[in-house]
Amino acid sequence: MQVIVCKDYEEVSQRAADILEAAIREKPDCVLGLATGSSPVGMYKELIRRYEAGKLDFSQVQTFNLDEYYPIEPTDPQSYRYFMNDVFFRHINIPQGHDHVPHGYEEAETVCRAYEEMIRKAGGIDLQVLGIGGNGHIAFNEPADTFAERTHVVDLEESTIRANARFFADEADVPRRAVTMGIGTILQARKILLIASGAGKAEALRGMVEGPVTPHLPASALQQHPDVTILADEAAASLLQN
Ligand code: F6R
Repeated sequence: MQVIVCKDYEEVSQRAADILEAAIREKPDCVLGLATGSSPVGMYKELIRRYEAGKLDFSQVQTFNLDEYYPIEPTDPQSYRYFMNDVFFRHINIPQGHDHVPHGYEEAETVCRAYEEMIRKAGGIDLQVLGIGGNGHIAFNEPADTFAERTHVVDLEESTIRANARFFADEADVPRRAVTMGIGTILQARKILLIASGAGKAEALRGMVEGPVTPHLPASALQQHPDVTILADEAAASLLQN
């Protein structure tokens, strides 16, 4: 794991955009794994800026988002499909049908199987972007007794529901379930980029980098991947020993 400590969120976002830009330049038809939440928003803004400046072309890129609430309609403003359209997809030239988000509105098992199959057909994910939950979750893989391998439906932890309540009018409105790529799905990506910002991520980051590999801190599974870059601001990196 390579940890790059940045002075602030702005630098994290710039460097994350540099890594995505390099991936697209190297392979114009690359397959990107994407995340929602606050962590990658600055990166999306910067990628949009570079696209508008004529420096980036998404016409051959395919994307696969990590997760989606379940059940939820894609037109629901709280859905991750809506979020991704709003903060990223509608601002760039990614063709319709190239921007995949798990369907939160179809029969669960079919959705999970179809998503894995689509990733496989696309040739696998070249670069997967991740955030990290304060409890060490990645995508919606919550702390558990075993690592979940493939795309599946999960019950969200109370702490995750509380953390995500900031996007809803009321905590009671936060969906209790989600469909998420599994740890095995994520580890199959050729390259992984994890973005962490703020003191609320410091403990989880320490566990991920310096603790044992355990499903009780799902992000620790990334220690088993050969090509992980972590971009952390000083607050998020504050508890790391080295
Ligand atoms: C989002 C996702 C989540 C977030 C995590 C951190 O698609 O998979 O694991 O990355 O909850 O969220 P933020 O970035 O809002 O702190």
